[in-house]
Amino acid sequence: MSTIDTPTNAAQPALVLHDSFIELPARERARALLDPGTFRELLGPFDRIESPWLPLQGIVCQADDGCVIARGTIDGEPAVVAAIESAFQGGSIGEVSGSKIAAALELALRDCERGKIIRPVVLFETGGVRLQEANLGLAVIAEMQAAIVALRRHVPVVGVISGMVGCFGGMSLAAALCSYLVVTKQGRLGMNGPEVIEQEAGIDELDASDRRHVWQLIGGEQRALTGFADALVEDDPAALRAAVQNAFAQGIPAAHRSEQVDAYLERLARMDPANVTPDTMRHVFHASASIPSSKEQV
Ligand code: COA
Repeated sequence: MSTIDTPTNAAQPALVLHDSFIELPARERARALLDPGTFRELLGPFDRIESPWLPLQGIVCQADDGCVIARGTIDGEPAVVAAIESAFQGGSIGEVSGSKIAAALELALRDCERGKIIRPVVLFETGGVRLQEANLGLAVIAEMQAAIVALRRHVPVVGVISGMVGCFGGMSLAAALCSYLVVTKQGRLGMNGPEVIEQEAGIDELDASDRRHVWQLIGGEQRALTGFADALVEDDPAALRAAVQNAFAQGIPAAHRSEQVDAYLERLARMDPANVTPDTMRHVFHASASIPSSKEQV
């Protein structure tokens, strides 16, 4: 799918076509990140590995449980991509979808331990634990997190939050464990969704209907400027693909974000919880981006 920019002055070309990454379904997002012609799906819809729990609650399940696992290559190197389908149950993670991701990461880990490096990418587009599967979702997210931590000793684990749902709940912690996070302006990253915060803590804490403020706090641009994400790229398949390739080219970071506990505690101590604004967050958490924006390289 494409959007069309019309010219604002005569010096510009008549039409500029942009492909959109975030308008793609999960399967096509995974395909877009892999080298052309290398996409091969594992446990696809025809395997019908579905949630046993949703029909019991009157919910129609999806044949892939809203999660696509694909093998292929990235920059010629073997890779596995897990892509969450935000259009199914808000990308929430249930027993089956979560197990597919955890198992894919564990298989990559097994290969890495045997000396065959597999490049892992997770496309986070998720409201977190699927509420209808509660503890089962929590358990598989814990497995996923353990696999990410084990895997990142061998190879960078790259996460992508491109939009429109964003990445929330336990999956935000999984994203935070990744070696590198690639985001777009349309992506959001937070522990709780804005509506959840407003409902639990009141509108004085956060007005979820104030979309501008929400994006200024947890949007992709803010997350990149505060160092919680490493590359901010345009909503464009080529830009995202280049950013993922660039992340792997950086190699394993000297210290992962989640290993820098003291540095983050020190920054938190400098913040006044009663007066958190987008500006104070940027001031305290100012990032020195570890991956240059791939936009410049495309
Ligand atoms: N479990 C089950 N369903 C979920 C879900 C979850 N964790 N997160 C989102 N969904 C569903 C919504 O119920 C909705 O379903 P519907 O279309 O049948 O009504 C659909 O996904 C889209 O969500 P919606 O809230 O309409 O979209 P949004 O773009 O306005 O907001 C979120 C997306 C993710 C910000 C919002 O759904 C949210 O805050 N979810 C909870 C996030 C959270 O705090 N998770 C912590 C759980 S541990």
